[in-house]
Amino acid sequence: MNIGVIGLGYVGMATSLAFALHRHQVIGVDRQRDKVELLIQGKLPFFERDMQEHLISLQSDGFLSFTDKLSACVCQSDILFLCVGTPTSPDGNADLQDLFRVVQDLQEIWDSCPPLNGCLLVIKSTVPVGTADIVQEMLSRYGVSVASNPEFLREGCALSDALLPSRIVIGTYDSHSRSILETLYLPFQVPKVHTSPREAELIKYASNAFLATKISFVNELARLSERLGTDIVTVAEGMGMDPRIGQSYLGAGIGYGGSCFPKDVQAIIRQAEASGERLGILERVADVNESQIEWVIRQWKRLIPDLRGKRVGVLGLAFKPGTDDLRASPALALVEAFLREGADVTAFDPLAMEAARSILPEVRFARQAIDVCEGAHAVVLATEWEPFLHLDWQTVKKVMASPVLLDGRNAWPKQELLRLGFRYAGVGRGVGQPIDETGKMG
Ligand code: UGA
Repeated sequence: MNIGVIGLGYVGMATSLAFALHRHQVIGVDRQRDKVELLIQGKLPFFERDMQEHLISLQSDGFLSFTDKLSACVCQSDILFLCVGTPTSPDGNADLQDLFRVVQDLQEIWDSCPPLNGCLLVIKSTVPVGTADIVQEMLSRYGVSVASNPEFLREGCALSDALLPSRIVIGTYDSHSRSILETLYLPFQVPKVHTSPREAELIKYASNAFLATKISFVNELARLSERLGTDIVTVAEGMGMDPRIGQSYLGAGIGYGGSCFPKDVQAIIRQAEASGERLGILERVADVNESQIEWVIRQWKRLIPDLRGKRVGVLGLAFKPGTDDLRASPALALVEAFLREGADVTAFDPLAMEAARSILPEVRFARQAIDVCEGAHAVVLATEWEPFLHLDWQTVKKVMASPVLLDGRNAWPKQELLRLGFRYAGVGRGVGQPIDETGKMG
């Protein structure tokens, strides 16, 4: 099939590459000319595992091309995937400006050059329920069908998630659209769910909101755990063994971030309000997340009460490992909180430092992980990149000014660190003092 992909961020690029790998003819379009130029040269504008190699080979094999002219993409495509961003507007609603601008541009193009017979426009962007209805109405006079096919990929493994998603949700108005999407997704051996476009739109919001709820649930429980003298890691592990609960998204820490959870939780709260319903649970989910860093810092101040003039080394800046994305990164918010407390911050991230420089002018950036530990009164784990989990602890202890480890992701080996003589605080696991050889706390 000839597939056009409109908007070349994480979702658009993963969609383009996944269909091109399935030997469809894909043309991607983005209005940012510099981004398109980079892609034409075979350079991915952001870091994402596995994408770079495929980008080059699929272009040279002729399955993938890019343009900044919407008409060039639209006139050749049987199916168009709409993958533009839907960020948060100041009132918390999803900002659909870009999406509707594209739909208006499509109207102009199709006014002068009618769409291919049976053309289908598929909305992949995360949009409020009812958006596909409006788009269908706007495009009905061109004979174009609209469908909703939300994306569930995670940054860091975007391409493998696009190729092997947990499920494919196909929201259609008519059997023609349904059969096109069924054929397109036939080689994807995963469960498929057929729904109305409105249901597909809500499945997307509800899924992200539920995952965010698990995280805020465990973060709130971490607060209780801190008071009751229990370790939230052990508690979550015990809970997660129940298959009805599951282990995933029960990692307590400095809160969820990224370009999806914070904005999608707000957007569904706002859409519910507008429809006359109140989503009280999700309001609390957002509150817990927004207050998490402040609460974590208060806990950590039991180990290091006065941060003024103290050297703090921060490991990780990206919103999670495997990406250079800093959008709504809790690691950045943590650094800002330390700066407000008067600390002198040095940071290191394997991928996100270039972008962080302009956001955090007061921070010194290290060349490698061990450098942030040099002379530090506390070292903080803000993003759980794999190499940060296996530091040479003896060396870390030797170079630090005082051996205090603050684990914002509960990913460091607490007991081992206490035995090595560190003072350790995670999130919801108490404040640990060094343990001597007899097993006694120091
Ligand atoms: C999320 C969803 O997982 C995807 O299914 C969805 O397609 C995507 O949003 C989207 O709507 O586009 P993503 O934003 O890439 O994907 O990130 P996640 O891996 O889900 O992590 C989100 C945040 O939650 C990160 O800050 C992460 O550190 C945090 N998190 C995750 C926790 O704090 N604890 C956990 O146990 C798990």
